[in-house]
Amino acid sequence: MAADLPSSLAASPAAFVRCDEVPAWRALHALYAQSGRSFDLRQAFAEDAGRFAAFSQRAPHLFADLSKGLIDAASQALLFDLARQCALPAQRDALFRGDAINTTEDRAVLHYLLRYPTSGAQWVPAGLEALSEQRTQVQATLDAMLDYAERVRADAAYTDIVHIGIGGSDLGPQMAVRALTAYASSGRRLHFVSNVDGHELDGVLRDLDPARTLFLIASKTFTTQETMTNAHSARAWFEARGGVDVARHFAALTSNVAAARAFGITTTFGFWDWVGGRYSLWSAIGLPIAIAVGARNFRELLAGAHAMDAHFATAPLEANLPVRLALLDVWYRNFHDLSSRCITAYHSGLARLPAHLQQLEMESNGKRVDRAGRMLPFATAPVLWGEPGTNGQHAYFQMIHQGSDVVPVEFIAVREAAHDLPGHQAQLLANVLAQGQALMQGRPDAAGHRHFPGNRPSTLLLLDRLDPASLGALVALQEHRVFCSGALWGINSFDQWGVELGKVLAQDIGQRLDTGDVRGLDASTAGLLGIVRGDR
Ligand code: F6P
Repeated sequence: MAADLPSSLAASPAAFVRCDEVPAWRALHALYAQSGRSFDLRQAFAEDAGRFAAFSQRAPHLFADLSKGLIDAASQALLFDLARQCALPAQRDALFRGDAINTTEDRAVLHYLLRYPTSGAQWVPAGLEALSEQRTQVQATLDAMLDYAERVRADAAYTDIVHIGIGGSDLGPQMAVRALTAYASSGRRLHFVSNVDGHELDGVLRDLDPARTLFLIASKTFTTQETMTNAHSARAWFEARGGVDVARHFAALTSNVAAARAFGITTTFGFWDWVGGRYSLWSAIGLPIAIAVGARNFRELLAGAHAMDAHFATAPLEANLPVRLALLDVWYRNFHDLSSRCITAYHSGLARLPAHLQQLEMESNGKRVDRAGRMLPFATAPVLWGEPGTNGQHAYFQMIHQGSDVVPVEFIAVREAAHDLPGHQAQLLANVLAQGQALMQGRPDAAGHRHFPGNRPSTLLLLDRLDPASLGALVALQEHRVFCSGALWGINSFDQWGVELGKVLAQDIGQRLDTGDVRGLDASTAGLLGIVRGDR
């Protein structure tokens, strides 16, 4: 590998090299012009009996079929060259070592430590000894958080848990609680409130009894406007309905313990600035998951993610699933010019997975400058979207089969069901296999409205069952895949400056809504503000 490295990297392994600055990028462009553009999946399968084996693999807790992707041995080989020339392994090692790879915030990115076990680790990252203080804090917080979760589970007085948070402080836990319904103890309801739209909180509070409700206020910063507004309203509702003992009925999950205390919450579970919001479900932010499924299952979730961490850290590039998925993502985005990816999960428990992955991919890699602040001359994060199969089939699949845009589909399926209703699971699995087949084969001989072009790419991730460990592995896989594409694009995947401007302007407009002052506003915003206020 060293022979492939530019000299700057040999001297500084953690330095980054952007994908468009290495020879493999130019070679990939040449290959795309020559054969990539006209690649045909049907022909590729006809010519290569070993294609399925070559483009599929096992990884911890899942099987991945990439064979219906628009790649062949030549493009895949060049994509691996790209990864090597961009020093992807060195960038990965810098992540695990705890280097401050979140350069704009000067922070390490160590969410993998949240799932690194105290014993039985599947690999030992270089530099782990230097992280012993962080590991001690992680274990102490995890133990305390899980102990609290078990006490809540054992306390029959709590019938309702209301988790208030937004973005990474909502999407991950909400997705996981739904996914793991089969592992949840019954008799307790979990509600998630994220939107500052009062209809959401109002709709939840309407049926609750303060004496039987526990509020979890989840916010890394404990300053996010939506969460603070909802938290204050929840406390006001609690007190107005005769609720006593805020300490018993409110807990905070935050890295700003001081602010939580100032709010009046004494039960707090912390985490650290090296845990990004969208990577925080493994931290105290995961408390509602632990309350739902219990400490043992939460540890299983962590163990599944750890197994995927070990795979990412140790598997050779050619058999490294996050790397292979990311290379395919780059191939589609930057060569085939495909601007979105559809996530269709054939398990209703994964209904919120696309929302979680949207934040993961689009907040991480939705950037247009590199780590040095230079404008990128190529496209980055695709738009992620999707609904569970088979619902999506009866809605947007028309466009995926016959529309003018090619949309790579990521199917996620689960072999075993957690119910015993006859017939359903076989139909579900038949549908997911049929959709991939139909996208690839098409109906090229039919004419006009009945013509399906086919040659439309898809990937299948297949879990044996949707259990805590598989879910952990699936989510960690997606985290590492996003890391890899971000690293190749040369961007900082761990900041989110793009969400700031809207927050600042909303504060200004909030004040103007009170006063009616439209001076300095553009004509559209001023006009709308007047209508909203009822001035016009
Ligand atoms: O929307 C920006 C963001 O900072 C996300 O990155 C984060 O997950 C979310 O807001 C919530 O932030 P906090 O946990 O600090 O309330």
